[in-house]
Amino acid sequence: MKALILFSVFILVFVIISFCDGHPINPKKDKLVFVQAVWRHGDRSPIETYKNDPYQEDAWPQGWGQLSPRGMEQHVYLGRNILKARYIDKYKFLSKYYDSHEIYVRSTDVNRTLTSAISNMYGMYGENARPGIDYPNCTDCWPKGFIPIAIHTVPEDTDYTVNADAKNCTRQNDLQKLLQETPEFKQMLKDQKKLFENISSNAGEPIGPLELWKIVDAMYIEKLHNLTFPDWLNIEWEGRPLFDVINDTSEIVERWINGLGLKPYKGIDFKLEASKIRGGGLLWSIIGNMQQKKNCIENPNHNYCGFYNRLKYYAYSGHDTTLAGLFSTLGFKKTNYNEDGYPRYSSCVTIELWQRSNGKFYVKFYYFPLEENMEDVTSEIVGCSDPCPLEQLADRSKKYQAKPNIEKVSF
Ligand SMILES: *[C@@H]1O[C@H](CO)[C@@H](O)[C@H](O)[C@H]1NC(C)=O
Ligand SMILES: *[C@@H]1O[C@H](CO)[C@@H](O)[C@H](O)[C@H]1NC(C)=O
Ligand SMILES: *[C@@H]1O[C@H](CO)[C@@H](O)[C@H](O)[C@H]1NC(C)=O
Ligand SMILES: *[C@@H]1O[C@H](CO)[C@@H](O)[C@H](O)[C@H]1NC(C)=O
Ligand SMILES: *[C@@H]1O[C@H](CO)[C@@H](O)[C@H](O)[C@H]1NC(C)=O
Ligand SMILES: *[C@@H]1O[C@H](CO)[C@@H](O)[C@H](O)[C@H]1NC(C)=O
Repeated sequence: MKALILFSVFILVFVIISFCDGHPINPKKDKLVFVQAVWRHGDRSPIETYKNDPYQEDAWPQGWGQLSPRGMEQHVYLGRNILKARYIDKYKFLSKYYDSHEIYVRSTDVNRTLTSAISNMYGMYGENARPGIDYPNCTDCWPKGFIPIAIHTVPEDTDYTVNADAKNCTRQNDLQKLLQETPEFKQMLKDQKKLFENISSNAGEPIGPLELWKIVDAMYIEKLHNLTFPDWLNIEWEGRPLFDVINDTSEIVERWINGLGLKPYKGIDFKLEASKIRGGGLLWSIIGNMQQKKNCIENPNHNYCGFYNRLKYYAYSGHDTTLAGLFSTLGFKKTNYNEDGYPRYSSCVTIELWQRSNGKFYVKFYYFPLEENMEDVTSEIVGCSDPCPLEQLADRSKKYQAKPNIEKVSF
């Protein structure tokens, strides 16, 4: 009997030890070594609108698609109350004072993502900024606490890393053409013929499934700003307000564009391809950074370690579509993690690379949706344990890597 108990205890200890890699993070023993953040820009004006919209570009102080003061505030909040609170105050991971070697910020080449990144950096470093050291020491020549921090970017049309809709992506353009041939798409055109005719004639321009987004985008923002819709959007359509019908129909199309809800067509797996094209570049940029960081921790003399040895934080300033693309490569079933629709303004994902005392590296993913609590989403990643060993993350992500590269991708 005694022997049996002893044996059981032995087995139990063995099981616990061998499952160590699956243990939750232990900030006391494990070491945070690298953090990446991906966020959506803040509140903005509509990107554009339909021809007959009573609210045209002059209805918005800075015109189309610009970050609003509310959006700036949202990013100061994200920078200060979420990212600084976690990585500077709680974990004491980043320096309290801005250190140019520690951080790298990359934005899409779009005004609102660039200005969001600037606002975010002000939130992160503004409170502790030192006059005379981090910015000019004079009250009438410079705003208090504002440090100009470099935001890097690349041309938008070929930004296959952060811009899910990079115009020069030929494969994506082919896929969009193919989408219009699918039975699902054709069925919508047939079933909703009257709807699209009605919308088109009211909007003053042809509106099909792929143009719906601009009505939805304008409606969403006009509603947020308490602007009154034109009457035709309020009419009843099959028992519901037309704007609701438009909203829901557009939702289906957005899901298709992200590869969701389509059966394979002509041998094309839309889910896999859309994920690869829209999120694969970003996912692999994130993994690549962590692999380099790991290599540089293990051998600081690699030629690229001049950058990585001191780098601790890499941020990507992008769009709702950037986050949705990343989510699809993580295997999340919906465009906003576990919800339909796109991620809200200034929502953010962070990816943390930790090192155990045994030298092994693992990864944690967190989601910070606007005005909601942080969520640890690591366990929802398809093909990863929680925490996710770095090698496992790379292995399960291979199928989202464009080969030989995104410009010459072969499927
Ligand atoms: C960015 O702002 C400039 C003016 O500052 C404007 O000319 C340009 O169209 C804007 N671009 C985008 C993509 O918003
Ligand atoms: C900033 O300027 C004030 C007023 O001229 C001066 O008293 C102070 O010492 C300066 N601080 C630094 C850090 O240079
Ligand atoms: C992107 O595509 C446009 C239009 O086809 C072309 O003129 C341009 O050279 C391309 N840009 C790059 C960097 O390949
Ligand atoms: C749109 O549909 C509504 C409701 O059925 C109808 O009253 C209206 O005349 C239609 N408008 C157009 C332009 O088709
Ligand atoms: C469309 O749906 C989304 C999410 O379901 C909602 O947030 C938005 O307010 C809706 N738009 C309108 C104009 O009702
Ligand atoms: C719209 O109205 C709501 C409720 O009255 C208010 O809280 C909100 O601030 C208004 N939004 C704008 C942009 O004025």
